[in-house]
Amino acid sequence: RISSLSAIEILDSRSRPTLAVTLAVDGATQVTAGVPSGASTGTREAVELRDGDKARYGGLGVTRAVGNVNGEIAAAVRGREFAGLGELDRALIELDGTETKSRLGANAIVGVSMAAARALAQSAGVPLWRYLTPEGVAPRLPVPHFNVVNGGAHAANNLDFQEFMIAPLGAPTLTEAVRAGAEIYAKLRGLLAGAGHSVGLGDEGGFAPQIDTPEDVLTLLVHAIEDAGYRAGRDGVAIALDPAASEFHRAGFYQVAGEKLSSDEMIERYALITDRFPVYSIEDGLAEDDWDGWTRLNARLGERVQLVGDDILVTNPAITTEAIAKNVANSALIKVNQIGTVTETLETIRICREAGWTQMISHRSGETPDDFIADLAVGTGCGQLKTGAPARGERVAKYNRLITIEAANENLPYGLG
Ligand code: PGA
Ligand code: ZN
Repeated sequence: RISSLSAIEILDSRSRPTLAVTLAVDGATQVTAGVPSGASTGTREAVELRDGDKARYGGLGVTRAVGNVNGEIAAAVRGREFAGLGELDRALIELDGTETKSRLGANAIVGVSMAAARALAQSAGVPLWRYLTPEGVAPRLPVPHFNVVNGGAHAANNLDFQEFMIAPLGAPTLTEAVRAGAEIYAKLRGLLAGAGHSVGLGDEGGFAPQIDTPEDVLTLLVHAIEDAGYRAGRDGVAIALDPAASEFHRAGFYQVAGEKLSSDEMIERYALITDRFPVYSIEDGLAEDDWDGWTRLNARLGERVQLVGDDILVTNPAITTEAIAKNVANSALIKVNQIGTVTETLETIRICREAGWTQMISHRSGETPDDFIADLAVGTGCGQLKTGAPARGERVAKYNRLITIEAANENLPYGLG
């Protein structure tokens, strides 16, 4: 039984308003969830409700979403008996009544869902990750994917690819993986500064140097990995990319570093990149509306490269099912606020698992110190988490949560699995 529920408007890491939702179930103390928010969003994501009142936060206020939690949602669920999170989430979906959660706001609904999961775990006396573990699944500590160079919609530089991540696949433990990430980040800062580049940070805590071509960034990254004393590759520290190609797909072409590429030319560019550099994973290599291109990309590289769908799948169970049937990728990015409830997120993860697709849990570029996704990654045993650079409090909060979980649970395995 939910005994209390309320929300307030707080700030996210980009200084934009978001929600903090506070909830309690009978016999347990109150818990709070902070709601994340993206910048390079997929068009089919659940709808984030913003006020649009230009006089407050340039229209980005969330007082209507806050009002929906404190008003309609609280009235519907407070004092009511729910068998579990699934039942609550279904009630929220029904109450909203739209396909995209646009009436009450996915930001309102996801905050309630996350807070409820946390409260239910607490009242069950188990850590959140254990509460989120599906039947028959073995929890594990995920490989952290540190986004150390930011471009695209997350930085003011000319770099078209959005994210360059380092993934310590070969680390013996999560704690050692975090150490590798931080040591390589420090080396990279030195290399950039030494070459006269800015070491200012982008939205996810990675550096945002004035470098134009992705290959130049990759060359630097391999240097940083090796200078820090690690092997660059799958047996050491590999590289993962999120070009977020929907953002540079214009008028039917991929516009990268001054070039205009067709889908097939873009695919060949990735083939070259994965030959030359230890890139093991590419997310959103093509645009969300280029399904035919995705199918050809998967046929060309899917055997040896993880091809992760983010904007194209938006953590939506129905879209993911269709994408699996059409063989457009081999992996899904998982963001709780893209679909709007924890239950539907777990459903998309299950669909991927059963189809043999890998899953990578993800933060958003706008975050709070909420560390929910660290527990989600451990509990679902998916083996992969991306949550920015090993810097900035809202990113580090998640990595530190993983370290804390590892310290308290020595038997949890680490790695992709
Ligand atoms: P977003 O970016 O949170 O700004 O949408 C993250 C991503 O594209 O993976
Ligand atoms: Zn992405």
